[in-house]
Amino acid sequence: MRFVQVSDLHIVPNGQKLHGLDPVRRFKQCIADINTHAESVEFCVITGDLCDQGDPESYKLLRKLLKGLKLPYHLMVGNHDRREDFFKVFPAAARDRAGFVQSELVTDSGVFLFLDSVDEGEHAGVYCERRRAWLSERLEQAGERPVYVFMHHPPFEIGFPSLDRMALNDGERFRELLESTGQVRHLFFGHVHRPVSGSWGSVPFSALPGTNHQIATDFEMVTPMPYSHGPAAYAIVDLEDNRTLVHLNHFLDDYPRRNDARVWEERKVGWLDKLTGR
Ligand SMILES: [Fe+2]
Repeated sequence: MRFVQVSDLHIVPNGQKLHGLDPVRRFKQCIADINTHAESVEFCVITGDLCDQGDPESYKLLRKLLKGLKLPYHLMVGNHDRREDFFKVFPAAARDRAGFVQSELVTDSGVFLFLDSVDEGEHAGVYCERRRAWLSERLEQAGERPVYVFMHHPPFEIGFPSLDRMALNDGERFRELLESTGQVRHLFFGHVHRPVSGSWGSVPFSALPGTNHQIATDFEMVTPMPYSHGPAAYAIVDLEDNRTLVHLNHFLDDYPRRNDARVWEERKVGWLDKLTGR
């Protein structure tokens, strides 16, 4: 089965720019690109930072934009979101007994767990006792089935001081819980606005760029955040027994594709002109 992960939309009220870019226009372009794959994809999950200021106007705009998406979707919150305003605009959004934006999707391919790692008012994340209890119960109920976990914050440092100061607090304790049943196949997160993948303990993970601004490669900078206009992307994830593929899709790229003869010929001629000095 296939699904799509999108992250860090940072929607702002219509017409406004954020870090010199237009988040609304970009999310529309992202949706248009996802829709071209909709027939072979089952759902879309958006791993937080839906809106930049967590304000009702932006959530209403997001709700309108999502009407254009041809897939069922699951919304998660990030450090820029505000639960109260989110629920006002998305009253049917899934939540757990304690009111956190946590939900479960059980499919033939496995159990998908959408976590809420937000410590409202803070940029760093937290996974408190009430949320741990929910996760612990879900992991137990999943039994032998494969489990895929989604959250906004990375639960460990990725080596960039600007981001590591706002990772999940107490990540090691979280890892113990994640590894407790041996059934978690992959951890998907956002927040870092970068493509990062690897493994953490026994758990493979991946993160992806946002749809608007990115974070540049900088192993030294603590503050300010090294924002960049690097390539935006979303991920198409393909699951089979014992295999997880994460394809990053740079939906704004306009590189010539071989199956677009007109563009290809134009570009080829352009490159030749440069090479020959014409
Ligand atoms: Fe973000």
